[in-house]
Amino acid sequence: MTKENQTWFQSWFNTPYYHILYKNRDFKEAELFIKNLVRYLNLEPSDDSILDIACGQGRHSIFLNSLGFKVTGIDLSEKSIKRAQENTSESLNFEVHDMRDLYNYQFEIVLNLFTSFGYFDDESDNLNVIKTIKSSLKPNGIGVIDFMNSPQVIENLVAHNSYEANDITFNLSRDYTNGFINKNIQVLDNDQTFEYKEMVRAYVFEDFKKMLSIAGLHLLDCFGSYKLDPYNTKTSERLILIFMNND
Ligand SMILES: C[S@@+](CC[C@H](N)C(=O)[O-])C[C@H]1O[C@@H](n2cnc3c(N)ncnc32)[C@H](O)[C@@H]1O
Repeated sequence: MTKENQTWFQSWFNTPYYHILYKNRDFKEAELFIKNLVRYLNLEPSDDSILDIACGQGRHSIFLNSLGFKVTGIDLSEKSIKRAQENTSESLNFEVHDMRDLYNYQFEIVLNLFTSFGYFDDESDNLNVIKTIKSSLKPNGIGVIDFMNSPQVIENLVAHNSYEANDITFNLSRDYTNGFINKNIQVLDNDQTFEYKEMVRAYVFEDFKKMLSIAGLHLLDCFGSYKLDPYNTKTSERLILIFMNND
């Protein structure tokens, strides 16, 4: 596929600029969340294998592996997976895989973290991601989706701002149109200018309940932050769904 034909999520997540813009969403944030999840779900390294869907460069996978879990991370971005693979071991694997396609292995725990959902124009593709999660779960396995809290994001949308990092300027503009939260990203790097975007369908709690039910997954709990505070539609930063494969 030529660069011009690439979708926004193929080009943006595969650039170094994505990692520079989000560099504050780092290992510390991932560790806090993972520690809380492991405690809440009562996970045991000796019993539980984990799949991290859309793992990026593997910040959650790598930390989970350091706690003793056997972890596989999959992502569409070849560059991110190559970087993640620098950490490969007997109990930590990374592979390029499109989450719309079923993955042929089963795990006790399947994760989809940091708004790695809702990227596709066709809603059936988003549902396919939930089907991938379902088919990758062993019977009684637990799934976790960590999504933005769309109502809170829309209410607090900052139309324009700029951000400087590594001598690069990011001019960001955001809007909410046709059910999508859009972020346009202009990158000024020395004398070069690049344009990228993010387009995430603004799914809400009720939408997830429907999709989980269609896929045959049973919702267990819902949290509103990485500290696992209770979910509040208006004020929570995150929408974190915990569900089970009852098969
Ligand atoms: C917001 S990032 C989150 C990455 C990682 N979970 C983290 O928290 O650092 C979203 C990730 O989804 C990946 N992605 C986008 N479309 C994908 C697809 N169709 N299949 C698998 N991964 C995809 C991107 O490459 C990117 O790494």
